[in-house]
Amino acid sequence: MKILMVCLGNICRSPLAEGIMKARATEAGLFWTVDSAGTGHWHAGELPDQRSIHVGRKYGIDITGQRARQFHPDDFDRFDRIFVMDVNNRRDVLRLAGNEAHRSKVSLILDETHPGEECSVPDPYYDDNGFEAVYQMLDEACQQFIRSSGH
Ligand code: 4NP
Repeated sequence: MKILMVCLGNICRSPLAEGIMKARATEAGLFWTVDSAGTGHWHAGELPDQRSIHVGRKYGIDITGQRARQFHPDDFDRFDRIFVMDVNNRRDVLRLAGNEAHRSKVSLILDETHPGEECSVPDPYYDDNGFEAVYQMLDEACQQFIRSSGH
């Protein structure tokens, strides 16, 4: 299984999602490829946001090896599933999709825990206190995805 996590900047939400999914998959004995990207280019090459690094570290997840990159249309073929953090990310990614096979790989990550409810992971960039909640909802969604994929 190859999974790509996508948000806007690839510095706050999707790096945590990548780190959490990697950790939970490894705990489940799965050798999954997990990566992340942003729909925007502004933060390319940067480390994750210090607040994401901090909350990850609190739960034993080190995301400091990650560097931000922009989503590229090649990602549709390189990954089996593309989990977007919010409805804007979904719109921006789907705009780049070339066919139905590409489109069918894209879903909101919170559909794992709240199917059909159109729930977005809130952008915590301007909310220092938002990172803990983001961590918790991503962790539940990642664990649920692993369970529902038969592991
Ligand atoms: P992310 O958060 O999409 O979760 O990485 C953001 C990071 C940076 C910006 C917006 C959201 N920004 O506007 O620079």
